[in-house]
This record gives sequence, structure tokens and C-alpha cells, in this order.
Amino acid sequence: TLDVLGLSAVRQRPLAALSGGEQQRVAIGSVLTTHPRVLVLDEPTSALDPQAAEEVLATLTRLVHDLGLTVVLAEHRLERVVQYADRIVLVPGDGEPVVAGTTEEVMATSPLAPPVVELGRLAGWSPLPLSVRDARRRASVLRERLVPHRPTQKAAAATSGTPLAQLRAVVVSYRGIAALRGVDLTLRAGEVVALMGRNGAGKSTLLSALVGLVTPASGRITVGGQVPADTGVRTLMRSVGLVPQEPGDLLYADSVAAECRLADEDAGVPSGNCRALFERLAPAVPDDRHPRDLSEGQRLTLALAIVLTARPSLILLDEPTRGLDYGAKRRLISALRSLAAEGLGVFLATHDVELVAEVSNRVVVLGDGEIVADGATADVVVASPAFAPQVAKVLAPQRWLTVADVATALETAS
Ligand SMILES: Nc1ncnc2c1ncn2[C@@H]1O[C@H](COP(=O)(O)OP(=O)(O)OP(=O)(O)O)[C@@H](O)[C@H]1O
Ligand SMILES: [Mg+2]
Repeated sequence: TLDVLGLSAVRQRPLAALSGGEQQRVAIGSVLTTHPRVLVLDEPTSALDPQAAEEVLATLTRLVHDLGLTVVLAEHRLERVVQYADRIVLVPGDGEPVVAGTTEEVMATSPLAPPVVELGRLAGWSPLPLSVRDARRRASVLRERLVPHRPTQKAAAATSGTPLAQLRAVVVSYRGIAALRGVDLTLRAGEVVALMGRNGAGKSTLLSALVGLVTPASGRITVGGQVPADTGVRTLMRSVGLVPQEPGDLLYADSVAAECRLADEDAGVPSGNCRALFERLAPAVPDDRHPRDLSEGQRLTLALAIVLTARPSLILLDEPTRGLDYGAKRRLISALRSLAAEGLGVFLATHDVELVAEVSNRVVVLGDGEIVADGATADVVVASPAFAPQVAKVLAPQRWLTVADVATALETAS
């Protein structure tokens, strides 16, 4: 099981010293070892890098085919799982009736669909493609139609914005094991930069270093002109704020209202600030709701509102779309876009290739503690087997990233 899940290298490690994705693989492994007949998984790939997610799903498919295992999988990232599913049960919520059927049937009408399906609907393909491979077979006519158009490039990586944070030759080690090995990076105002890379590549470590939670062994980090590890929390929070991989880590009061009051006090801003921000991002959540009882998306939004209350010029998010449904994800995307438009710097560590395609203008890829790519989103992701969004894979070698880009081009054509 350790081999299948790629865990051999970390076999002797204590669980607390594993990255988020490594921990998720341990959890999957622990249920597989009991050889169950039915395996129920709640978002099993949410913390996995795209390659690891594919491997885990392929392993599960093999167990289904060879051993007759039944797998029930709850998942928001449909682009990862739809191609493996025999049947889908769509639970719309709000007391609406459940829709169940074969994958093809449900995808034909589902309001939630992965980009390949949406592209298929846009192009009028029938039957609808469920995988990139299905879609590529049909895409030649669409590709022809798109030839005269150029993808509207998101404002390419800004080289002119004010530098907000700089890293020079930064090395971070955990008890002798190097997690970052000489990272050079500048983050600027108005940019949305995505930080990608395999599980354990050092993404969370890099974000922690930017807020002074870990101290580099060598090299230099400055954020807003200060060295994070030597700067008091109250000063630092005006330059940079981190929404952690587990947003609950920021929440310790017993109601939304109390949480927001604390945030206003900590930031030294007039009371009501944080609550107003939260209301804008997640409307109509009752004041007395316990943070524990919020949905995943609401909890993330509350953590984001708390961090934003101190008005940092740089905001860091670690895996912000874990557990978010499509609606919550869309609201997060528009919030991040407007923050960047207001001149904030946004730096997000994520495995969500579709989020990156939608929101970021620059992508930095970490591999084993080193930066292996840094450039405009399309330049970095289109040619990458791991990080390309579905639309890019279907329409390659053309450089389209999202269904919305394609739709816009077709509209201007007609
Ligand atoms: N407290 C710790 N002690 C020892 N090693 C650690 C500790 N935290 C992380 N590591 C190791 O450092 C490396 C980088 O971890 P990090 O959490 O930064 O990865 P990541 O890119 O965020 O991964 P993921 O995508 O899984 O969240 C990994 O090899 C991890 O196992
Ligand atoms: Mg991480």
C-alpha cells in the first residue's frame, strides 16, 4: 500500500512532519489495508497534487475492476473524477430532489460540470465528452474555428508593480532535511501568483517563511521592507496575511460576531470592519453561528475576512479551494480578482489547475524545494502535462485556458 500511494520515502516520519498531501495519502492507505468491500471516500484527493490524484484514482479503479470493490466518492473537483465514475448522484441541497443516473445522463443536464463537459455543451458535441481524451477526438473542428482568434491574455505577469516581498537564496530545513533550497522570488502589487508543485515540494513552507512562522537557515526574506521572522505580529499583519491550509487554525471564538470583533481589535480598526468584509464575501451568515458549524467555504471566507481586516498589502492563501463547491469557488475567484484590482498582491499555493487557469496571471512551480518554472500562466501551464487545465489539454497546441475564453472568442466570431 505504501508503494501504491507513493509513501515509501516518508515511512519512518511522524505524521505531524508530513505535508498536507502526504497526510491525506496516509489516510487513504489506512482504510485500504482493511480490504473493505465498499469504500466510502469524502474528497479523497482534495490535498493531492494533480499527478498523485490521478494515481490514487487509477489505483481505486483497478481495485474496482479486479476485486469488485465498490467505491463511493464525494467530490467537488469533478474534472478529476467524472471520467472514472459509472454513476453520479447529484445532491443539489436546499431540499431540492436528488438526481441520480449514469454519468452521461447526469452530466447532460447537471448545473455542475467539469470544463470538458462545458466545452462539449458549448461546441454542441453529442454524446458529451467525459474525459480529455474523448474531447480531443472531437476537437478538430472547434480548433479550426478558433484559429483566427487569440486567447485574451490576462494582464501578463506584472514586472512594474511595487515589490511587496522578496526572497533571495532562501534555504529552510526541518531537522536537517531541506524543504527550500535557495529560492529567489519577487512578489508585486496587483499580481495574482499561483504556487504549484507536487506534495511535499515546499509550498506551505514558503508561505510560512513569508509570515515568519519558519526562519530560513540562510538567505534573506523581506516583506514590506521588514524581515518577517524578526518583526512583531502586529506590525507584520499590515504587510502580509496568511489564510492557512486549515482555515480553522485562525478561528478560536465561539461565534462569527465574536470572531470579527477580535479581528477588528487585533488590527486596531473601527469595529464592524471585519463583519462588513465577511458579509460582502459570504452574505447572510447569522452573527451567532459557531465557526465550527460553518460550511467549509464559509469558514475559509471568514478566515479570509479576518486576515483582510488588517489591510495587508500581500495576501497568502494555502489551498484555498479545498472543500469548496463551484459556487463558493466562483465567489472566491471574484474576490481575489477584485483584491488584485485594488492593488493587493495575491499569492496562493494550490493544486487546483482550473482555479489557476481562471485567476492567476503568473505561475511559480516548486520542485523539491527549488523554483523550476516562473512565468505568465499560459506559458507555464499549457505545455505541462500535470498543470494544464482541461481546456488547454483539449485544444493544444492552441493556448486556451478556460471555457469562458473560448466562449468569448466564438461570440465575437458570430
Ligand atoms: N514539521 C516538519 N518537520 C519535518 N519535515 C517537515 C515538516 N513540515 C513539512 N516537512 C517536510 O518538508 C517538505 C515540504 O513540506 P510542505 O508542507 O512545505 O510541502 P507542500 O508543498 O505544502 O506539500 P502539500 O502539497 O502536500 O501541501 C515535505 O517533504 C514535508 O514532508
Ligand atoms: Mg502544503
